[in-house]
Amino acid sequence: MILIKLGGSVITDKGRYRTFKEDVVRRLAREIVSSEERTMIVHGAGSFGHVIAKKYALQNGMVSDDQARGISQVTSDVRELDALVIKALSDEEIEAVSIVPGSSATLREGKLHTLDVGKFHDYYALGITPVTFGDVVLDEVRGIGICSGDQLIARLAEEFRPDKVIFVTDVDGVFTCDPRLDGKAKLIEEIDRKVLDELPRSEWCDDVTGSIFAKLEYMLSIATSTKEVMIINGNEHGRLAAAMTGSELICSRVRGA
Ligand code: IPE
Repeated sequence: MILIKLGGSVITDKGRYRTFKEDVVRRLAREIVSSEERTMIVHGAGSFGHVIAKKYALQNGMVSDDQARGISQVTSDVRELDALVIKALSDEEIEAVSIVPGSSATLREGKLHTLDVGKFHDYYALGITPVTFGDVVLDEVRGIGICSGDQLIARLAEEFRPDKVIFVTDVDGVFTCDPRLDGKAKLIEEIDRKVLDELPRSEWCDDVTGSIFAKLEYMLSIATSTKEVMIINGNEHGRLAAAMTGSELICSRVRGA
């Protein structure tokens, strides 16, 4: 089984509120089908989640009554995105069912605490592809919080020990600095603890679920539950299929301890 994270930056236009990239998701779905591998899929929120979640500071927990509006709006937006993803997968003949974190997970101080993994087992056993996504989730301590797709991927990797975990993003992998800002940025083909510790600590991203460094920490922990963790560019045709089938491709690989 291959665990795939479809990043919000590849399935949505991050600069335009609630803009779904149906063509990209359908092409990625065709690449998944062509690999003939079974999968579980986690998707991010992109422009259906981050902007409003940040406006209402949902990552800080429930600190004021005004946040109720944000909780409701972001929950509604990310579920709308999820319905679009499921429909796009289904149109390409991936029979998928969504498992909604808001009703099957809890957080404790911003960290994923419980997740009903039984549902993933049961749908998978029925031959169905379980899909889950970054969502607004109740937090036992803070009241509310954001559960990122990366947290879900980490828990699912621990539970299911997939053959590989593939992070589908809008860049070729991890670079020495932000390739969109610096032409001298170099792709890092292999990332381990030492490489991560030596990366310059500029904040490349201010999403509610954290910077590239927070994401890389998750990836390093995931690399202990699977043989291979890859970060690939989903906008380049054929890369997801190549990553799934073990063909050569441009990407970054994360190596665990
Ligand atoms: C974010 O999930 C969830 C919300 C903002 C509600 P992710 O952190 O997994 O999303 P992307 O991939 O960065 O968009």
